[in-house]
Amino acid sequence: MSEPQAIYLSDYQPPAYQVTRTELTFELDPHATRVRARLHLERHEDQGQGEALVLNGEHLTTLELAIDGQTLKDDEYRIENERLTIFRVPERFVLDTEVEIDPAANTALEGLYVSGSMFCTQCEPEGFRRITWYPDRPDVMATFETTIIGDREQLPVMLSNGNPVEWGELPDGRHFVTWQDPHPKPSYLFALVAGELEKLEDRFTTMSGREVTLQLWVEARNTDKTEWAMESLKRAMRWDEQAYGREYDLDRFMIVAVDDFNMGAMENKGLNIFNSAAVLANPATTTDAAFQRIDTIVAHEYFHNWSGNRVTCRDWFQLALKEGFTVFRDQSYTEDTQSAAVARIQNVAMLRTAQFAEDAGPTAHPVRPDHFIEISNFYTLTIYEKGAEVVRMLRNLVGPETFRRGSDRYFERFDGQAVRVEDFVATMAEVSGLDLDQFMRWYSQAGTPQLSVQGEYDATARQYHLTIAQHTPATPGQPDKQPLHIPVRMGLLGPDGASLELVVNGESHGTDTVLALQQERQSWTFEQLDVAPVPSLLRGFSAPVQLDYNWSRDDLALLMRFDEDGFNRWDGGQRLALAALEDMMVAWRANESMKLDGRLIEAWRGLLNSPTDDRAVLAEMLRLPTEAWIAEQQSVVDVDAIHAAREAAISQLADNLYVDFERTYHANQLDAPYAPTPEQIAARSLKNVALGYMVATGEREPLMLAQAQFEADHNMTDVRAALTLLAHSDASELGDPAIRAFGERWAHDPLVMDQWFATQVTRPQQDVMERLKFLMEHQAFSLKNPNRVRALIGTFVNSNRVNFHRIDGEGYRLLADVVIELNQLNPEIAARMVTPLTRFRRFDEQRQRLMRAELERIRQEPLSRNLYEVVAKALA
Ligand code: PHE
Ligand code: ZN
Repeated sequence: MSEPQAIYLSDYQPPAYQVTRTELTFELDPHATRVRARLHLERHEDQGQGEALVLNGEHLTTLELAIDGQTLKDDEYRIENERLTIFRVPERFVLDTEVEIDPAANTALEGLYVSGSMFCTQCEPEGFRRITWYPDRPDVMATFETTIIGDREQLPVMLSNGNPVEWGELPDGRHFVTWQDPHPKPSYLFALVAGELEKLEDRFTTMSGREVTLQLWVEARNTDKTEWAMESLKRAMRWDEQAYGREYDLDRFMIVAVDDFNMGAMENKGLNIFNSAAVLANPATTTDAAFQRIDTIVAHEYFHNWSGNRVTCRDWFQLALKEGFTVFRDQSYTEDTQSAAVARIQNVAMLRTAQFAEDAGPTAHPVRPDHFIEISNFYTLTIYEKGAEVVRMLRNLVGPETFRRGSDRYFERFDGQAVRVEDFVATMAEVSGLDLDQFMRWYSQAGTPQLSVQGEYDATARQYHLTIAQHTPATPGQPDKQPLHIPVRMGLLGPDGASLELVVNGESHGTDTVLALQQERQSWTFEQLDVAPVPSLLRGFSAPVQLDYNWSRDDLALLMRFDEDGFNRWDGGQRLALAALEDMMVAWRANESMKLDGRLIEAWRGLLNSPTDDRAVLAEMLRLPTEAWIAEQQSVVDVDAIHAAREAAISQLADNLYVDFERTYHANQLDAPYAPTPEQIAARSLKNVALGYMVATGEREPLMLAQAQFEADHNMTDVRAALTLLAHSDASELGDPAIRAFGERWAHDPLVMDQWFATQVTRPQQDVMERLKFLMEHQAFSLKNPNRVRALIGTFVNSNRVNFHRIDGEGYRLLADVVIELNQLNPEIAARMVTPLTRFRRFDEQRQRLMRAELERIRQEPLSRNLYEVVAKALA
C-alpha cells in the first residue's frame, strides 16, 4: 500500500463541471441497497472544452453508467483510486449511474449505514462518495430530489431533505416516498433516514409569520425524552431571528436521534441527524450538564442553517468559516439564555486545557489548515473552539452593532454560495473600516501566543507603565511566527479593590478598556494614579493566549474578590490555587508534608460567607484547577505530583471549611420539582460541590448524606453526583451496592449505562484497571458504538490521568489495543482516541519511552488514512 498523500489548499481548482440537479432513488436493503443517481451536469463556464469528468466513489459496486441514455463502453471511462473518470462528455448532459452498497457492513458510520433497526446517513465531510458516484466537494451545489423505497413494515418512516412531494404503495410489501429540497446544496448536507420511528411534533411561527412544522423523530422507547430538545429548538429559532435576523426557510424542520454516530450531530438541510446522547433527555436519566449540552448542540445545528448551509464553504480548508462562526453563535446563545459568566468560564476552561494542548502538540494546525491527509481528522478543538475565539475577537474589535451589520451583509451577499474565510473577514473590514490584514494571521498561524506582561509604577510621575510582549512558539512546519493583532481587555484595581479610572494621554477611558497589541512589544502609560495599581488583564478572556504576569498571591486574592469582570474573578482564584498547588507539588517531590497556603483557605472562607447573587459562578470558583490545566502549566508533566497535591488540597480545604460547606449543602436543597433552569442548576451544582468537599474529610456522616441523596432518587444530577462520591470512596460497602443497584436499574438504557461506565472508570484508586477490563467485557459495552467507546475508554484515558499514565505502561497498552481494533472498525474514532498517546513529549523519559513504543506498535498495522496521519505526525 502506498503512503497516503497530503492535499494542499494552494492546489485548489474550481470544479470543471457543476451539478445543477441531483435525482436519487434508493432501494433500501441492509446488505444490498441499490442507489440510482441521475445527475444533470454542465461544464463550468470558465473551463476549457475536453476536460474529463472526474467523480468520487468509495466502496461502491458499479452496475450501470450512462450518458444521455447511452451506456458507457469500457474504453470510455476508468475506475481507479476511488475515482471514476469519464474521458469525453458534452457541455450539458445527464449522467445515470446505478451502484450497490452494503449499509449493514458499514462500521465506519460514514455514508449510508445501519444503526439498530434504522438506516441513516452521515455525509460530512466526504461520506456521500460512499453512497454514489459524485463530485463530492462543497463547491458543487445542486437541488436534490430523493426517492426512497423500502419495506412498509420495517421502514414505515422514510425521510430526506426538504418536503415530501409524492408517496404510495408498491408491490411486495414495499412503499415509496419522494422528497424535494429546493435549496441548492453540497452533497455533504444530504441526509436520509428510514426506520420504525415515532415523532414529537410542534409548530413555530417565524418572524415574517410563516408556519413551520417541527418534528423530532425517535425510536418508540425514547418518546419520553424528546421535550427538552424541542424547547431548545424553538428557543434557538427565536434567538437567531432576534440576534442575527435569520429566519428559517423550509416548511418543516426535522431532527432524528440515532444511537450510532461519530460526532454530536449533523446539520443536514432540514433534516438534522443527532447522536442520541446529544438530543434525548429527561430528568430521571439526564444530568444538568447533559441538558445544557443538548441545548447548545440543538442550537448549534439549527444555526448552521445560515452559517454553513445557506452560505457554505468553498473547500474543506475553510471548515472554520462555518464551524468557528457557528460555535461563536451557539456560545452567544448560551450566554444570553444561561449564566453568561459561567458559560464563558466553562468554555475557556475547556479551550485553555484541551485546545492549548492540541496547539502545543504534534497535530497543531492553524484555524485554517493549508494541507491535510484526511479531512475527518480536522474536526478539532482548534477549528471549532479557537475558530470561535477568532470570531469573538473580531466582534470585540469592530463592536457588536457593526458586527451585526457585517453578518447581515455576509449572509446577503454570499447567500447560496460556497465561500472562503477571506470573504467573511473582508466583509467585517468593509463595514467597520478597520484594516484586518494582520488579523488574518490568526487563521494561518498555529500555536498559542504567549503574552508576557510587565507593569511599573512611577510614584513621582503618578504613572503606571504597562508593557506587553507577544511570542508564538514554533509548531510543526511553522518555525517562525509573525506578531498577531491581539485585543487585550483590561483594567486597574486600587489596593482596596476599587476600579481605577484609566487615563491615557489625558483622556479617560472609564475603568475598562481594550488595548490593541500589534507589535512584538508595546507599552501603554496610565496617568494620574496615586497608588501602585493591580492590573486585571485579559478580561473575559479577550484573546486565546497564554498570559504571564507576576501577580503576588495577595494581588490574586484581591482580583478574586473585587474585579469588576466575573471571568477574571474566577481566573484570579484559579491562579491563586495554582500557585498554592505548585508549593505542594514541590513538597511532595521532596517527600515533605504538603501544606496548603492559608491565603487560599481564607479566600474561600470569604467566598462561602459573602452573600452572592450568582451561585453558578460561586460553584465554579469552588472548583480547584483540573489536573489537565495544572499539567498544561508544567514543562514536564508530573502526573503523580499533580494528583497528590490536588487531593491533599481538597482534603485540607474540606477540613478547614467543613461547617461552611455543610451550611452551603443544606442551604441549597430544592423542594421544587426538577427543571433544568439556570437557578436550579446553580443550586444543585453548588450543593454537590459542597458535598464533595464534605466527603473528602473521610468522615462517615457526609457519606451517609451521599447515600441518602442517591436513594432519594430525585433526579439524575443528584443521583450521579452521589453515586460518584460513593463509588470513588474507600467505603466499598457503600460504593459497591450503589454501583450494582444503578447498573441493574438502568441496564435497558444505553445512555445511562454510559454514565455508569464513566463513573466507574474515573475512580482514582489503582483497582480501577481491573474494573475497566471487566467492563470492556460487559454486555452493555461494544467497540462498534462510539458513545460506548467514549464513555468507557475515552473517559478513562482523558479523565483518570494517574491511572492512565501508570508507570508500568498498562494504561498505554490498553489504549493501543483498543485503537488497533478501532482502526478496522471505525477509523475516525480510532484517530480521535489515540490522541493522549501522541502527547508523549510532555512527560518524563520513562513514560515517553512507553508511549512511543505503543505508537510504534500501532504503526506496524495496516493503517487507515485517519490513523496514519495522526501517528505519523506524532512520531515525526
Ligand atoms: N458538522 C457537524 C457540526 O459541527 C459535525 C460533524 C462533522 C458531524 C462530521 C459528523 C461528521 O455540527
Ligand atoms: Zn458545526
